[in-house]
Amino acid sequence: MIQISKELRVRIVGIGKVGSGIVETFAQCGFTVYGVDTDKKQIDNALNSIDSDLKKLLEKEKITDAEKDLILSRIRFGTDLGLIRDADVVVEAILEDIQAKKELFKTIDHLVVSKEALILTNTSSLSVTDIAAATERPEQVAGMHFFNPVPVMKLVEVVRGVLTSKETVSLVKQLAITMGKTPIVSADSPGFIVNRLLNALVVEATRIVAENVGSIEDVDIGARLGCGHPMGPFELLDYLNALPLVLDVTDYMADGLGERFRMPAWVREMVKKDNGDSIACGRFYDRKPSS
Ligand SMILES: NC(=O)c1ccc[n+]([C@@H]2O[C@H](COP(=O)([O-])OP(=O)(O)OC[C@H]3O[C@@H](n4cnc5c(N)ncnc54)[C@H](O)[C@@H]3O)[C@@H](O)[C@H]2O)c1
Repeated sequence: MIQISKELRVRIVGIGKVGSGIVETFAQCGFTVYGVDTDKKQIDNALNSIDSDLKKLLEKEKITDAEKDLILSRIRFGTDLGLIRDADVVVEAILEDIQAKKELFKTIDHLVVSKEALILTNTSSLSVTDIAAATERPEQVAGMHFFNPVPVMKLVEVVRGVLTSKETVSLVKQLAITMGKTPIVSADSPGFIVNRLLNALVVEATRIVAENVGSIEDVDIGARLGCGHPMGPFELLDYLNALPLVLDVTDYMADGLGERFRMPAWVREMVKKDNGDSIACGRFYDRKPSS
């Protein structure tokens, strides 16, 4: 069994919005970490995003110039999946698509030499058990679900697939703690714990607007001042800037847990109009549902 230490070779596959934050957080915590993506542009994006985050820490005097350089020196990016061959820990953060994840896990299983390596998925909702079944070591596969922005958000959800071993769950919890995060453990159920809580709120908020019970602004003010939430649900969705992903996740949860998680038509229209482009999409404060 591997021992959790900062000497572990950590490899992240998929360095989009969340994967780049995972790379940054591991590097800030002292791990040497490689990030792999099939899209070369995402490597530039990840480098820019990490550099800009570190500059902010520098400006706030939370790190020194030397520490910034040290953190950057721990990171290596590439498009060749062969970079993960020597991994002790792989964290997958590619698109939220079960077939793509299963294909990738099969490849990772063949590529990674160490028989003790942990192979983890950052999926927001999909079945860890199904993903693990694509490998010949399902007991070493678990969910390690980070939250966006990863360097800031303190939570990690550790998801236990049906065949995930107790040792693996314990190692992933230790790994999260070593990164300064607080782990919680969830069984393998659509949306796990946090997205189940969050999406119940978000979907209800969109229904309140669809039924003309209250406006987007008033729902957000109500959540902030009446429920003590730091952000209203629409402000949060704007902040996450990932409405197409939220729609996919809630549809998956509705299929597994019931229609209470299904987003109403006006939200689907917003995503369709933007052709699923998550950058242009989902600015609730720029547009309103048609009545
Ligand atoms: N966005 C969020 O707020 C959030 C939060 C927590 C978890 N997640 C989960 O994290 C995962 C990634 O989400 P995201 O928002 O960062 O997506 P994203 O679209 O920003 O990034 C996905 C990246 O994966 C790359 N990719 C796709 N297929 C690949 C492959 N086979 N090999 C290597 N790279 C590949 C893409 O080029 C892209 O850079 C999803 O499973 C999502 O559910 C997202």
